[in-house]
Amino acid sequence: MNPNLRSNFYIFDCSKVLIVNAAMRGCKMITKSIQTALNKQLNAEFYSSYFYLSMSAYFEAKDLQGFAKWFRMQADEEYAHAMKIFDYVYQVGGEVVLQKIDGPKTKWNSFLEVFKDTFVHEQKVTKSINAIVDLAQKEKDHATVNFLQWFVGEQVEEEATAQQNVKRMEMIGDSKSGVYAG
Ligand SMILES: [Fe+2]
Ligand SMILES: [Fe+2]
Repeated sequence: MNPNLRSNFYIFDCSKVLIVNAAMRGCKMITKSIQTALNKQLNAEFYSSYFYLSMSAYFEAKDLQGFAKWFRMQADEEYAHAMKIFDYVYQVGGEVVLQKIDGPKTKWNSFLEVFKDTFVHEQKVTKSINAIVDLAQKEKDHATVNFLQWFVGEQVEEEATAQQNVKRMEMIGDSKSGVYAG
């Protein structure tokens, strides 16, 4: 019998066991400051989901189901981002503390304004992801640096798409025919 399994009170040496779920073994692999930053980002991703869902609702009300569906897909993606962080925090023995999600903007003056808002928003998210990468590097938390690389790549894509959408909307404006053709 593996001697490690003999006692319920055995304290695992985190450096020697394969970490599948660190929390189960009482090992904490992230610092309090990284945990706080990740929880904040988790909230920001939920907010992003809410923000895009609000845009989806805006287009639903205007009978533009194509746009409404696209923004709903973005909302789903942002929810998935939040859950990615949720799972990681527990994988490294941390704790998720859910915070209040701010109410998103619900009215826009033009379609272009909606798309401009998404671009500005994604730029903000990129900054906050980068700030956590900086912090994790400072703390020599290689696992978190590695985990966040997926988000760094995702933000490049999201900013590029958002910027492209702004350009398209600038071309067609709020003309219904242009919107349907787009
Ligand atoms: Fe996101
Ligand atoms: Fe995003």
